[in-house]
Amino acid sequence: MNSPVKTASSLYIHIPFCATKCYYCAFNTYSFHKEQAKVYLQALRTEMELYLLDTAPLRTVFIGGGTPSILSAKALAQLFADLHTHFELRTDAEITVECNPGTVDEEKLKVMHNAGVNRLSFGLQAMSDDTLKQLGRIHTVTEFLHSYHLSREFGFENINIDVIFALPKQTMAAWQYTLHEVISLAPAHISAYNLVIEEATPFYEWSTAGELHLPSEDTEADMFQYTIETLTAHGYTHYEICNFARPARFARHNLVYWDNQACIGLGAGACGYVDGVRYTNIRGIAPYINALAQRNKPIADTERLTGRAEKAETLMLALRKREGISFEDYRHRFGEALDVEFAAILKKWIDLQLLERTTTHLRLTHRGLCLANEVFVELM
Ligand SMILES: C[S@@+](CC[C@H](N)C(=O)[O-])C[C@H]1O[C@@H](n2cnc3c(N)ncnc32)[C@H](O)[C@@H]1O
Ligand code: SF4
Repeated sequence: MNSPVKTASSLYIHIPFCATKCYYCAFNTYSFHKEQAKVYLQALRTEMELYLLDTAPLRTVFIGGGTPSILSAKALAQLFADLHTHFELRTDAEITVECNPGTVDEEKLKVMHNAGVNRLSFGLQAMSDDTLKQLGRIHTVTEFLHSYHLSREFGFENINIDVIFALPKQTMAAWQYTLHEVISLAPAHISAYNLVIEEATPFYEWSTAGELHLPSEDTEADMFQYTIETLTAHGYTHYEICNFARPARFARHNLVYWDNQACIGLGAGACGYVDGVRYTNIRGIAPYINALAQRNKPIADTERLTGRAEKAETLMLALRKREGISFEDYRHRFGEALDVEFAAILKKWIDLQLLERTTTHLRLTHRGLCLANEVFVELM
């Protein structure tokens, strides 16, 4: 973690379209319509123009969603042409695109490869067709494998696979099967999330009605523990609560978030952090497009992060990393020791063995990893 910079060298672009909405997902996404997507990409281009002065040469770009890979090859080519026209990218920039299995083909992969994309992230979620159906996913396991292998054949070496555990009716054996099948594909990076029941999703409704048969908290903790032990034993470094990577394959873009560094966010509902101000864009596609038709930044909310709020957020984000927060980096950024602002809270969590000090860092203990949210809530 370094001192924050005024101009961002990271860029997030949100593509808010999916074929259909998965039953558990609360991300800002809508049904895909080709014509609307075309107008949306024009609006994105205008938004890029409005941010030219806020960027340094880009080190990381993340095109996420939604499902960016639902765009046609032509639309993707246009998006990358706009990106390269408006921003300078460092030659070693990490450029990631989130892909939904079943939505990539040779033409799209070729466009991405030619545009310098060097990292793909596939949402697999589970290695079982029945489970995928219960999650409302649009693809089968076979389609995922086809997309994954095709990407590898196209020369994409740096691939992440997202999986979710503690799914309804999921047994430990079923989770172990998913995990081992994913490991057998040897991806560079694996994100393993525990299912979060988000408001305003079908899963939330079914859970409230008692119809979602979720594994117990103990089983969920066992699944998490198993995940850490297994992935570590297979050469993946556990570098963030939910993220595991082969050496030198940490997600550089996500590290920008966890280090609370500047990042421009473009697109409907995207968040950014520039010059000490955190902002959130208008969520709806039509109002987002309308704002840009007037050449206004489509911002819905802003918050200037200063004082304790910035310190707490920096601490909370860095504690997500397995190494924790560096005492020296914190002092460098804020001109004081971590204990000045947080002595009482830190003492409490250290006494309860949820946090621990190393010689250089403060970090979550093994136990703290499962209860991280309790620590974070108190910091807010
Ligand atoms: C922004 S989504 C986009 C990925 C891509 N659209 C896909 O689903 O294939 C990134 C990841 O967040 C995770 N995710 C989304 N909703 C979640 C939830 N309620 N609980 C846990 N993980 C979730 C999924 O693993 C998903 O792949
Ligand atoms: S999980 Fe991915 S595909 Fe499913 S609705 Fe969310 S963003 Fe779209």
